[in-house]
Amino acid sequence: MTTALSFYPASDLNITPFIPAVDRNFADDVISGLALPQKQLHAKYFYDQQGSDFFDQICQLEEYYPYQTELNLLPKVASDLANTFPTDCTIVEFGAGSLIKIKPLLSAMPGIRQFIPIDISGIHLELACQQLQSDYPDLTVKPVVGDFCFPVELPALHNQQKIGFFPGSTIGNFCPAQAASFLENARCTLGPDSHLLIGVDTKKSPYYLHRAYNDANGITAKFNRNILSRINRELGANFVPENFEHYAFYNAGQGRVEMHLVSTAEHVVDVFGTAVSFAAGESIHTENSYKYTPDEFCQLATSAGWHVEQTWLAEKDLFATYLLRNHN
Ligand code: AVJ
Repeated sequence: MTTALSFYPASDLNITPFIPAVDRNFADDVISGLALPQKQLHAKYFYDQQGSDFFDQICQLEEYYPYQTELNLLPKVASDLANTFPTDCTIVEFGAGSLIKIKPLLSAMPGIRQFIPIDISGIHLELACQQLQSDYPDLTVKPVVGDFCFPVELPALHNQQKIGFFPGSTIGNFCPAQAASFLENARCTLGPDSHLLIGVDTKKSPYYLHRAYNDANGITAKFNRNILSRINRELGANFVPENFEHYAFYNAGQGRVEMHLVSTAEHVVDVFGTAVSFAAGESIHTENSYKYTPDEFCQLATSAGWHVEQTWLAEKDLFATYLLRNHN
């Protein structure tokens, strides 16, 4: 379907010429992930516009404690930081989503002059930026649509104090080794004397973890299955999402919640020309969500060259926020 387009001048077609009809990286990742003995899909592909909307719905669930718990902690964090960062700073947010968590910082820290949100979900980010800009007219907002799994090129940051912001325990999607390289890359991106404010979910009773990823209304199940609908929509496949069961559990040995989509029957799916077979009960591993004790996380951050300056723990130690500093 891509070849036909090249015969027409882009201006004759009602399309945006710089967005390829098929995203090659997405297609390649899907095909190679589904060829593994344990089939897997990368969690970053949850976030098309539909998936970002489902994630916003998850954040409104009583069961999904990480969202509200962190949001309740941030005003305290922000008022503590107001003294540390009195003037002219720039916040770079990784995986900014709907731009809710930046608000407690903006409200308590008048020194924030510039905000650079990075997100993989372009339209979702643009809409959120328009809203934020009208709420904070004096703030300079420079959104970057990008995948922070790779080094992201940022607009020139001059001599401002740089603070990275990575809330939501999104770091939990990386395995510990990848998390360490993310932290190292972020340290290089943000540069000498920068800080990183990061929200990380804690290890806790599996009771909370199980509820958080198995909500009664099945929103998490919809979010999980949407990755198959997205592959159908964007790449041309014939997944029947209802043929897959949402399965999420806490793997205590690995310290992570795993999400899977389990095929309810033996069947074959056509994934843009490649036949992918499923046995009954076979799973696609769609997400890891690692949890860290404060000690474990401080060790990880230190191994990536950061110095842990401050730790805030939420009620019942349900969530943690850390301020890291790059002394180099
Ligand atoms: C956005 C990656 C932090 O792992 O808890 C929510 C995504 N998955 N419910 C998480 C998610 C299922 C979330 N992160």
